[in-house]
Amino acid sequence: MDSIIVHGNGPLSGQIPVSGAKNTCLKLMAAALLSDEPLTLTNVPRLSDIRTLSTLLQSHGCEVALLQDERVMVLSAREITNRKADYEIVRKLRASFNVLGPLLAREGEAIVSLPGGCAIGARKVDLHMMALETLGADIVLEEGYVHATAPKGLTGAVIEFPFVSVGATENALTAATLARGTTVIKNAAREPDTVDLAKCLTEMGAKISGAGTSEITVEGVEKLHAATHRVIPDRIELGTFMIAPAIAGGEVELLGGRRDLLETFCEKLEEAGVEIEETNHSLKVSRKNGGAKAVDVSTAPFPGFPTDLQAQFMALMCTAEGTSVLEETIFENRFMHAPELIRMGAEIDVHGGTATVTGVEGLKGAPVMATDLRASVSLILAGLAAEGETVVSRVYHLDRGYERIEEKLSAVGARIERVQGDG
Ligand code: UD1
Repeated sequence: MDSIIVHGNGPLSGQIPVSGAKNTCLKLMAAALLSDEPLTLTNVPRLSDIRTLSTLLQSHGCEVALLQDERVMVLSAREITNRKADYEIVRKLRASFNVLGPLLAREGEAIVSLPGGCAIGARKVDLHMMALETLGADIVLEEGYVHATAPKGLTGAVIEFPFVSVGATENALTAATLARGTTVIKNAAREPDTVDLAKCLTEMGAKISGAGTSEITVEGVEKLHAATHRVIPDRIELGTFMIAPAIAGGEVELLGGRRDLLETFCEKLEEAGVEIEETNHSLKVSRKNGGAKAVDVSTAPFPGFPTDLQAQFMALMCTAEGTSVLEETIFENRFMHAPELIRMGAEIDVHGGTATVTGVEGLKGAPVMATDLRASVSLILAGLAAEGETVVSRVYHLDRGYERIEEKLSAVGARIERVQGDG
């Protein structure tokens, strides 16, 4: 397995292009199962998670063609040849569970493996099932699989979520597009990913209003048709690379970056002393005058501070002036990066869902590893500000969600390289 080696190398300078959004693209790909006509996606990121979902969709009979240097993906689900989503794939990629809504809505039956837990928490799927049952599906659990049936099709209904779930909102939304009558989704996720999914479904002929608010209304239609859709920029990749100049100093321009995708996060960075300038095609991020200052953060569903940027923000707080309190409210086990940051000299106390971080003068390079994607990248960010060499192993986590990370960071002056080995 490869490792990534980072040397703290002073201020960064230059441009980084932001790729298409992984989490959005995965949900758009699953939505291709709703129609027997092709869905063409552009601005597709080249990531292992995207390849994993392609394999699953192919197992359902969907043809997946990659064009233009893998930036364009054409998904053709003319016929669904298999309604079962296998454990071997779903356990690797939780977003696979979002084939449930489309398969059930189109075929009247879906058998999808339960995804199981993962490093950051139990991550239940009860709300996904509740939503589909509300639309009239019968659901039984058999040998680790969710077997959902609706032989006469789904029927529109009012679905009220007790709290916000991005994945469950999206399964409900896709299923409702082909249900008979009107569906109202209350306490819906407002994430940009969900809004982009609704936009793509609308381009495919769905009738949806209210996406981006906490109440989404869907008028079911008979059939969806071909469409071409551009994936939005990856706000988590954007936020991650915004931390790079914040922690190492200098100025980096994130091409394709948009502030509206990350307003709360931008406000927190500014409070920490980071300067952000929005142009019509980018965000320019700089930290020129001294170090960052400690800022408290609590994760929350959009438009709150994203859980997917908590680890990266913690890396910044490790070298900030003062003490910050970071609260994780979405996942119960999402401080796995803290012990690794401590190995680099950070001062962090974790109690339940709260981490108290006292900034230190400087971090020191160390061999580290992480158990999930965002935790891994936080260690690379910390390495940018550390004295000496940081070796991050288990790089496959990074490859799930960051396209050519070492190339993108090298381009702005970071000393970072990938080495092959047993990491
Ligand atoms: C979550 C994040 C999303 C992020 C994604 C990938 C939130 C609200 N969601 O989406 O921004 O991009 O991870 O890291 O920040 N839950 C249940 N039952 C369910 C579904 C969810 O109890 O049926 C719980 C989860 O365990 C979690 C919370 O609800 O504590 C939010 O989960 P959810 O939004 O569904 O997770 P993802 O869709 O994976």
